[in-house]
Amino acid sequence: MAHFDEKAKPFSHKWLNERMAVDTVKKVLSTEYWIPKDINFLWAMGMILAATFGLLIISGIFLLMYYQPSVDSAFDSVNYTIMNEVGYGWLWRHIHGVAASVVFLVIYIHMFTGIYYGSYKRGREMIWLSGMLLFVLFSAEAFSGYMLPWGQMSYWAGMVITNLFEGFSPTIAGGVANFPGFVEWLRGDYVPGQAFLTRFFMLHVFLLPLVIIAVIVLHFATLRIPHVNNQHGKEIDFDEAAKLYKEGKKKESKVIPFNPVFLSKDVFVMGVYFILFFYLVFFHFEFAMDPVNFDPADGLKTPAHIYPEWYFLWSYEILRPFNKDLGLIAFGFAQVAFFLLPFLDKSPVVAPANKRGLFKVWFWVMIVDMIVLTVMGKLPPEGIWTVIGLVAALVFIALFVALPFITKFEKKA
Ligand code: HEM
Repeated sequence: MAHFDEKAKPFSHKWLNERMAVDTVKKVLSTEYWIPKDINFLWAMGMILAATFGLLIISGIFLLMYYQPSVDSAFDSVNYTIMNEVGYGWLWRHIHGVAASVVFLVIYIHMFTGIYYGSYKRGREMIWLSGMLLFVLFSAEAFSGYMLPWGQMSYWAGMVITNLFEGFSPTIAGGVANFPGFVEWLRGDYVPGQAFLTRFFMLHVFLLPLVIIAVIVLHFATLRIPHVNNQHGKEIDFDEAAKLYKEGKKKESKVIPFNPVFLSKDVFVMGVYFILFFYLVFFHFEFAMDPVNFDPADGLKTPAHIYPEWYFLWSYEILRPFNKDLGLIAFGFAQVAFFLLPFLDKSPVVAPANKRGLFKVWFWVMIVDMIVLTVMGKLPPEGIWTVIGLVAALVFIALFVALPFITKFEKKA
């Protein structure tokens, strides 16, 4: 039977502590959650992502007050009502649009930091897997959001992406069930229409954010036991280091508490980030808005060149050079390859890529290849661009096929 002090004032610290163990929760999540000293500003990206997601939710709530999920009025509710009639509606829209684009830049920096320092190994596999799940969920969230203004690119990107699933129909038909009208089932119609817009609206404002919040909690939970990695991949005895810190031997200890020491540094990096962020919001918001999407959706007028937002271009370019079925397989391979990274990298070495022989070459070729894929994805599929795109897509696939061999060799070396 728990002990309660009847004289404790309701909602006082003692009263809450007896009922909810607030001191223990604070210790576990904050003042005794230990962070290695040997890290740099790149380790602030996780908190920046959490803050940007918060901003997306807040700005999204304001937009939701005026947005109308109807094929007849969605375009005007965004481009006229929110942008011209509602006080500061334009500001919330620019914040939402810029955050949706910038969040992917930060996600890629966060992912590549993890790859560079080998932060997906030695007990950190679940951090990586939950992170990749967040990547897929954010992609679905961005795609569903892109449909909502019901402009030309919303409509035609929706058409092109759902068309891809035509490749799935025979597979399902031949395998599990007869499902010839899979694409129509997805759209709720023969072409994107009201049913399509309503379901993407539901996904964007309700189901996906809910799942994202749950997976962010999971991602944080997976960090608790292995702790974050450090710049040199050194194995730290966190109990020993924490003991030294608590004894006052702060210099000798290899760790600092998350709150207040690390958090203050996080907040500093976040401050710099938000200065740049609001600079974009006020002066260069157009980079996050496709001009083609300022024309209302028209099912009878296909845009000359259909392409996705910049953050999807690399995977789009992996799909595009091949025929439909092969393209879909290549696209699936690209997504699964990143998920499987902790298991494809056969070396137990946790160290920065520049100290890992062939892996260093692998890492930088992968970065350059993804940049080339991104650039090619934006260009029309003509002449030399098609060839470069095909070569870059093949290099990407080859890199992931080669990874287990490269890293196995590293182990023996
Ligand atoms: C989009 C929402 C995400 C949020 C809010 C988030 C948040 C965080 C936070 C707060 C940390 C600890 C501090 C840091 O290292 O930055 C962290 C670590 C980590 N995250 Fe994420 N993350 C997200 C997405 C991802 C993605 C897409 C990946 C890639 C697959 C990923 C992989 C990792 C890894 C490997 C670590 C451990 C880093 C280390 O041990 O040094 N995260 N994340």
